Amino acid sequence: MFRSCVAAAVAALYVLAAPAMAADGEPVVIRFAHVVADDTPKGKGALLLKKLVEERLAGKVRVEVYPNSTLVGDAEEMQALFDNKVQLLAPSMSKFAPYTKKLQVFDLPFLFDDAEALQRFQKRDTARQLLRSMADYGVYGLAYWNNGLKQLSATTALRTPSDASGLAFRIQPSPVLEAQFAAVDATSVVLPFAKVYESLKAGVVQGAENPWSNILSQNMHSVQPYITESNHGVLDYMLITNNEFWLSMPFALRSELEGIILEVTQAVNREAAAVNQRDRERILASGSSQLITLTTEERQLWRDKMLPIWNAYEADIGADVIRAATTANRRR
Ligand code: SIN
Repeated sequence: MFRSCVAAAVAALYVLAAPAMAADGEPVVIRFAHVVADDTPKGKGALLLKKLVEERLAGKVRVEVYPNSTLVGDAEEMQALFDNKVQLLAPSMSKFAPYTKKLQVFDLPFLFDDAEALQRFQKRDTARQLLRSMADYGVYGLAYWNNGLKQLSATTALRTPSDASGLAFRIQPSPVLEAQFAAVDATSVVLPFAKVYESLKAGVVQGAENPWSNILSQNMHSVQPYITESNHGVLDYMLITNNEFWLSMPFALRSELEGIILEVTQAVNREAAAVNQRDRERILASGSSQLITLTTEERQLWRDKMLPIWNAYEADIGADVIRAATTANRRR
Protein backbone atom coordinates (compact mmCIF):
# COMPACT_ATOMS: atom_id res chain seq x y z
CA MET A 1 0.00 0.00 0.00
CA PHE A 2 2.73 2.39 1.10
CA ARG A 3 4.76 1.42 -1.98
CA SER A 4 1.93 2.11 -4.39
CA CYS A 5 1.17 5.49 -2.74
CA VAL A 6 4.81 6.50 -3.04
CA ALA A 7 4.93 5.32 -6.64
CA ALA A 8 1.75 7.22 -7.47
CA ALA A 9 3.14 10.40 -5.90
CA VAL A 10 6.41 10.01 -7.76
CA ALA A 11 4.56 9.35 -11.01
CA ALA A 12 2.46 12.47 -10.51
CA LEU A 13 5.63 14.53 -10.13
CA TYR A 14 7.24 12.93 -13.15
CA VAL A 15 4.35 13.56 -15.53
CA LEU A 16 3.83 17.20 -14.59
CA ALA A 17 5.70 18.24 -17.67
CA ALA A 18 3.97 15.78 -19.97
CA PRO A 19 3.25 17.24 -23.32
CA ALA A 20 0.31 18.44 -25.21
CA MET A 21 0.02 17.71 -28.90
CA ALA A 22 2.12 19.84 -31.19
CA ALA A 23 0.60 23.18 -32.10
CA ASP A 24 -1.91 23.19 -34.97
CA GLY A 25 -0.47 22.03 -38.23
CA GLU A 26 2.91 21.21 -36.77
CA PRO A 27 4.10 17.60 -36.72
CA VAL A 28 4.46 15.84 -33.37
CA VAL A 29 8.17 15.65 -32.63
CA ILE A 30 9.46 12.42 -31.10
CA ARG A 31 12.99 12.62 -29.78
CA PHE A 32 14.52 9.16 -29.57
CA ALA A 33 17.74 9.17 -27.54
CA HIS A 34 20.00 6.19 -26.99
CA VAL A 35 23.55 5.44 -25.91
CA VAL A 36 24.92 3.17 -28.65
CA ALA A 37 26.24 3.68 -32.17
CA ASP A 38 24.05 3.81 -35.29
CA ASP A 39 25.44 0.54 -36.65
CA THR A 40 24.18 -1.68 -33.82
CA PRO A 41 20.81 -3.46 -33.49
CA LYS A 42 19.31 -0.60 -31.45
CA GLY A 43 20.92 2.14 -33.54
CA LYS A 44 19.66 0.57 -36.77
CA GLY A 45 16.18 0.15 -35.27
CA ALA A 46 16.02 3.81 -34.31
CA LEU A 47 17.02 4.87 -37.84
CA LEU A 48 14.53 2.49 -39.46
CA LEU A 49 11.79 3.92 -37.25
CA LYS A 50 12.72 7.43 -38.35
CA LYS A 51 12.75 6.38 -42.04
CA LEU A 52 9.36 4.63 -41.93
CA VAL A 53 7.79 7.56 -40.08
CA GLU A 54 9.20 9.94 -42.73
CA GLU A 55 7.74 7.77 -45.49
CA ARG A 56 4.31 7.15 -43.94
CA LEU A 57 3.57 9.97 -41.52
CA ALA A 58 5.26 12.95 -43.15
CA GLY A 59 3.83 16.20 -41.86
CA LYS A 60 2.16 14.42 -38.93
CA VAL A 61 5.10 13.02 -36.96
CA ARG A 62 8.83 13.70 -37.04
CA VAL A 63 11.35 11.39 -35.33
CA GLU A 64 14.71 12.82 -34.29
CA VAL A 65 17.35 10.25 -33.35
CA TYR A 66 20.18 11.07 -30.92
CA PRO A 67 22.67 8.15 -30.73
CA ASN A 68 25.83 7.68 -28.64
CA SER A 69 24.56 9.58 -25.54
CA THR A 70 24.65 12.83 -27.56
CA LEU A 71 21.42 14.18 -26.06
CA VAL A 72 21.29 12.27 -22.76
CA GLY A 73 23.41 9.51 -21.27
CA ASP A 74 22.06 6.49 -19.49
CA ALA A 75 22.22 8.14 -16.06
CA GLU A 76 19.88 10.95 -17.15
CA GLU A 77 17.70 9.41 -19.81
CA MET A 78 14.81 8.23 -17.60
CA GLN A 79 14.48 11.67 -16.01
CA ALA A 80 14.51 13.17 -19.51
CA LEU A 81 11.60 10.89 -20.42
CA PHE A 82 9.68 11.89 -17.29
CA ASP A 83 10.32 15.55 -18.13
CA ASN A 84 9.24 15.00 -21.76
CA LYS A 85 12.59 16.16 -23.06
CA VAL A 86 12.72 12.87 -24.94
CA GLN A 87 9.74 10.78 -25.97
CA LEU A 88 11.33 7.43 -26.85
CA LEU A 89 14.12 5.46 -25.19
CA ALA A 90 15.29 1.88 -25.41
CA PRO A 91 17.36 1.33 -22.25
CA SER A 92 18.78 -2.07 -21.48
CA MET A 93 16.84 -3.99 -18.85
CA SER A 94 19.51 -3.42 -16.19
CA LYS A 95 18.75 0.30 -16.21
CA PHE A 96 15.18 -0.28 -14.96
CA ALA A 97 16.16 -1.68 -11.56
CA PRO A 98 15.04 1.48 -9.66
CA TYR A 99 11.54 1.25 -11.19
CA THR A 100 10.74 -2.45 -11.08
CA LYS A 101 12.55 -5.45 -9.71
CA LYS A 102 10.79 -7.83 -12.06
CA LEU A 103 12.82 -6.88 -15.12
CA GLN A 104 15.93 -8.10 -13.33
CA VAL A 105 14.93 -11.48 -14.74
CA PHE A 106 16.73 -10.46 -17.95
CA ASP A 107 20.00 -10.03 -16.01
CA LEU A 108 20.04 -13.50 -14.47
CA PRO A 109 23.14 -15.33 -15.75
CA PHE A 110 22.70 -18.47 -17.86
CA LEU A 111 18.91 -18.04 -17.90
CA PHE A 112 18.27 -18.32 -21.62
CA ASP A 113 19.91 -21.09 -23.63
CA ASP A 114 20.13 -18.85 -26.69
CA ALA A 115 18.67 -15.75 -28.35
CA GLU A 116 15.77 -17.76 -29.78
CA ALA A 117 14.66 -18.71 -26.24
CA LEU A 118 14.72 -15.03 -25.27
CA GLN A 119 12.58 -14.19 -28.29
CA ARG A 120 10.09 -16.93 -27.42
CA PHE A 121 9.84 -15.59 -23.85
CA GLN A 122 9.17 -12.06 -25.07
CA LYS A 123 6.16 -13.20 -27.06
CA ARG A 124 4.52 -14.94 -24.10
CA ASP A 125 1.98 -13.48 -21.65
CA THR A 126 4.39 -13.03 -18.72
CA ALA A 127 6.76 -10.90 -20.77
CA ARG A 128 3.89 -8.95 -22.37
CA GLN A 129 2.71 -8.09 -18.84
CA LEU A 130 6.22 -6.93 -17.91
CA LEU A 131 5.83 -4.19 -20.54
CA ARG A 132 3.39 -2.62 -18.04
CA SER A 133 5.62 -3.16 -14.97
CA MET A 134 6.59 0.53 -14.75
CA ALA A 135 3.05 1.91 -15.19
CA ASP A 136 3.18 3.47 -11.69
CA TYR A 137 5.92 5.76 -13.04
CA GLY A 138 4.01 6.69 -16.19
CA VAL A 139 6.32 4.51 -18.31
CA TYR A 140 4.70 2.61 -21.16
CA GLY A 141 6.59 -0.33 -22.65
CA LEU A 142 6.05 -0.53 -26.40
CA ALA A 143 8.28 -3.44 -27.43
CA TYR A 144 11.30 -5.60 -26.72
CA TRP A 145 14.35 -5.08 -28.88
CA ASN A 146 17.16 -7.62 -28.77
CA ASN A 147 20.85 -6.98 -28.98
CA GLY A 148 22.67 -10.22 -28.31
CA LEU A 149 24.34 -12.60 -25.91
CA LYS A 150 27.00 -11.09 -23.64
CA GLN A 151 30.67 -12.06 -23.81
CA LEU A 152 33.29 -11.54 -21.12
CA SER A 153 36.32 -9.47 -22.09
CA ALA A 154 39.39 -8.76 -19.97
CA THR A 155 43.04 -7.92 -19.83
CA THR A 156 43.77 -11.53 -18.88
CA ALA A 157 42.48 -14.81 -20.26
CA LEU A 158 39.26 -15.93 -18.55
CA ARG A 159 38.83 -19.65 -18.96
CA THR A 160 37.59 -20.72 -15.53
CA PRO A 161 35.87 -18.63 -12.83
CA SER A 162 39.06 -18.47 -10.75
CA ASP A 163 40.67 -16.48 -13.60
CA ALA A 164 38.27 -13.63 -12.81
CA SER A 165 39.15 -13.53 -9.12
CA GLY A 166 40.40 -10.10 -8.05
CA LEU A 167 39.58 -8.35 -11.34
CA ALA A 168 37.23 -5.36 -11.53
CA PHE A 169 34.49 -5.49 -14.18
CA ARG A 170 32.41 -2.64 -15.49
CA ILE A 171 28.72 -3.32 -14.90
CA GLN A 172 25.44 -1.64 -15.65
CA PRO A 173 23.52 -0.42 -12.57
CA SER A 174 22.07 -3.81 -11.66
CA PRO A 175 22.29 -5.61 -8.31
CA VAL A 176 22.05 -8.92 -10.17
CA LEU A 177 25.12 -8.11 -12.26
CA GLU A 178 27.00 -7.06 -9.14
CA ALA A 179 26.12 -10.42 -7.54
CA GLN A 180 27.14 -12.23 -10.72
CA PHE A 181 30.72 -10.93 -10.53
CA ALA A 182 30.87 -11.31 -6.74
CA ALA A 183 30.05 -14.99 -7.30
CA VAL A 184 33.40 -15.40 -9.07
CA ASP A 185 35.29 -13.31 -6.47
CA ALA A 186 35.56 -10.34 -8.80
CA THR A 187 34.55 -6.78 -8.01
CA SER A 188 32.39 -4.55 -10.15
CA VAL A 189 32.13 -0.85 -10.89
CA VAL A 190 28.93 0.75 -12.18
CA LEU A 191 29.81 3.02 -15.11
CA PRO A 192 27.69 4.67 -17.78
CA PHE A 193 28.03 3.10 -21.20
CA ALA A 194 29.69 6.22 -22.62
CA LYS A 195 32.57 5.78 -20.16
CA VAL A 196 33.30 2.09 -20.71
CA TYR A 197 35.98 2.40 -23.38
CA GLU A 198 38.00 5.06 -21.57
CA SER A 199 37.68 3.24 -18.23
CA LEU A 200 38.97 0.03 -19.77
CA LYS A 201 41.77 1.91 -21.47
CA ALA A 202 42.77 3.72 -18.27
CA GLY A 203 42.66 0.48 -16.27
CA VAL A 204 39.90 1.69 -13.94
CA VAL A 205 38.37 -1.71 -14.67
CA GLN A 206 40.04 -4.71 -16.25
CA GLY A 207 37.04 -6.39 -17.78
CA ALA A 208 33.49 -5.99 -19.07
CA GLU A 209 30.53 -7.93 -20.42
CA ASN A 210 28.98 -6.94 -23.72
CA PRO A 211 27.53 -8.37 -26.90
CA TRP A 212 29.84 -8.33 -29.93
CA SER A 213 28.07 -5.32 -31.47
CA ASN A 214 28.75 -3.09 -28.46
CA ILE A 215 32.36 -4.29 -28.16
CA LEU A 216 33.09 -3.46 -31.80
CA SER A 217 31.18 -0.19 -32.07
CA GLN A 218 32.91 1.22 -28.98
CA ASN A 219 36.30 -0.17 -29.99
CA MET A 220 36.55 -2.00 -26.67
CA HIS A 221 38.40 -4.90 -28.29
CA SER A 222 41.38 -2.61 -28.88
CA VAL A 223 41.88 -2.44 -25.09
CA GLN A 224 40.72 -5.95 -24.17
CA PRO A 225 43.26 -8.52 -25.37
CA TYR A 226 41.05 -11.50 -24.41
CA ILE A 227 37.41 -12.19 -25.18
CA THR A 228 35.77 -15.28 -23.73
CA GLU A 229 32.81 -16.45 -25.76
CA SER A 230 30.76 -17.11 -22.64
CA ASN A 231 27.25 -16.30 -23.91
CA HIS A 232 26.42 -16.09 -20.21
CA GLY A 233 23.64 -13.51 -20.36
CA VAL A 234 21.57 -11.34 -22.66
CA LEU A 235 21.57 -7.67 -23.50
CA ASP A 236 18.01 -6.77 -24.22
CA TYR A 237 16.09 -3.50 -24.44
CA MET A 238 12.62 -2.23 -23.76
CA LEU A 239 11.38 0.48 -26.09
CA ILE A 240 9.54 2.86 -23.78
CA THR A 241 7.64 6.10 -23.89
CA ASN A 242 6.00 8.49 -21.46
CA ASN A 243 2.42 7.28 -21.10
CA GLU A 244 0.93 10.75 -20.96
CA PHE A 245 2.75 11.83 -24.11
CA TRP A 246 1.66 8.68 -25.92
CA LEU A 247 -1.98 9.08 -24.95
CA SER A 248 -1.92 12.76 -25.95
CA MET A 249 -1.76 11.68 -29.60
CA PRO A 250 -5.02 10.95 -31.41
CA PHE A 251 -5.89 7.26 -31.44
CA ALA A 252 -5.51 6.89 -35.22
CA LEU A 253 -2.03 8.42 -35.21
CA ARG A 254 -0.97 6.29 -32.27
CA SER A 255 -2.21 3.18 -34.02
CA GLU A 256 -0.23 4.04 -37.14
CA LEU A 257 2.89 4.58 -35.03
CA GLU A 258 2.34 1.34 -33.15
CA GLY A 259 2.06 -0.48 -36.49
CA ILE A 260 5.39 1.00 -37.58
CA ILE A 261 6.96 0.08 -34.23
CA LEU A 262 5.80 -3.51 -34.65
CA GLU A 263 7.41 -3.66 -38.09
CA VAL A 264 10.67 -2.14 -36.80
CA THR A 265 10.69 -4.49 -33.79
CA GLN A 266 10.40 -7.50 -36.07
CA ALA A 267 13.28 -6.20 -38.20
CA VAL A 268 15.52 -5.45 -35.17
CA ASN A 269 14.90 -8.85 -33.59
CA ARG A 270 15.28 -10.69 -36.92
CA GLU A 271 18.62 -9.04 -37.67
CA ALA A 272 20.24 -8.68 -34.23
CA ALA A 273 21.96 -12.07 -34.33
CA ALA A 274 23.39 -11.39 -37.80
CA VAL A 275 24.72 -7.97 -36.73
CA ASN A 276 26.45 -9.59 -33.76
CA GLN A 277 27.84 -12.39 -35.90
CA ARG A 278 29.19 -9.82 -38.38
CA ASP A 279 30.81 -7.83 -35.56
CA ARG A 280 32.30 -10.97 -34.01
CA GLU A 281 34.01 -11.69 -37.32
CA ARG A 282 35.25 -8.10 -37.62
CA ILE A 283 36.75 -8.22 -34.12
CA LEU A 284 38.49 -11.52 -34.78
CA ALA A 285 39.74 -10.27 -38.16
CA SER A 286 41.22 -7.18 -36.45
CA GLY A 287 43.58 -9.49 -34.56
CA SER A 288 43.38 -7.31 -31.47
CA SER A 289 41.86 -9.87 -29.14
CA GLN A 290 42.38 -13.56 -28.60
CA LEU A 291 39.15 -15.53 -28.64
CA ILE A 292 38.70 -17.98 -25.79
CA THR A 293 36.25 -20.76 -26.54
CA LEU A 294 35.07 -22.61 -23.46
CA THR A 295 34.70 -26.37 -23.32
CA THR A 296 31.36 -27.65 -22.04
CA GLU A 297 33.01 -28.45 -18.71
CA GLU A 298 34.59 -24.99 -18.40
CA ARG A 299 31.29 -23.27 -19.18
CA GLN A 300 29.59 -25.45 -16.58
CA LEU A 301 32.06 -24.16 -13.94
CA TRP A 302 30.90 -20.56 -14.59
CA ARG A 303 27.28 -21.70 -14.52
CA ASP A 304 27.72 -23.52 -11.20
CA LYS A 305 29.24 -20.44 -9.57
CA MET A 306 26.60 -18.04 -10.87
CA LEU A 307 23.39 -20.06 -10.70
CA PRO A 308 22.75 -19.51 -6.93
CA ILE A 309 21.95 -15.89 -7.87
CA TRP A 310 18.62 -17.04 -9.28
CA ASN A 311 17.49 -18.09 -5.78
CA ALA A 312 18.80 -14.92 -4.20
CA TYR A 313 16.65 -12.77 -6.53
CA GLU A 314 13.63 -15.04 -6.82
CA ALA A 315 11.57 -13.13 -4.25
CA ASP A 316 12.22 -9.80 -6.02
CA ILE A 317 11.62 -11.03 -9.54
CA GLY A 318 8.89 -13.57 -8.86
CA ALA A 319 9.21 -17.33 -9.15
CA ASP A 320 6.49 -17.29 -11.83
CA VAL A 321 8.51 -14.88 -14.00
CA ILE A 322 11.70 -16.95 -13.69
CA ARG A 323 9.74 -20.11 -14.46
CA ALA A 324 8.16 -18.53 -17.54
CA ALA A 325 11.63 -17.53 -18.76
CA THR A 326 13.18 -20.97 -18.28
CA THR A 327 10.17 -22.60 -19.91
CA ALA A 328 10.98 -20.61 -23.04
CA ASN A 329 14.18 -22.67 -23.36
CA ARG A 330 11.99 -25.53 -24.50
CA ARG A 331 10.64 -25.26 -28.02
CA ARG A 332 6.95 -26.00 -28.26
C1 SIN B 1 23.20 -0.35 -24.57
O1 SIN B 1 23.39 -1.26 -25.39
O2 SIN B 1 22.23 0.38 -24.57
C2 SIN B 1 24.25 -0.12 -23.51
C3 SIN B 1 24.30 -1.24 -22.55
C4 SIN B 1 25.34 -1.01 -21.49
O3 SIN B 1 25.27 -0.01 -20.76
O4 SIN B 1 26.25 -1.84 -21.39
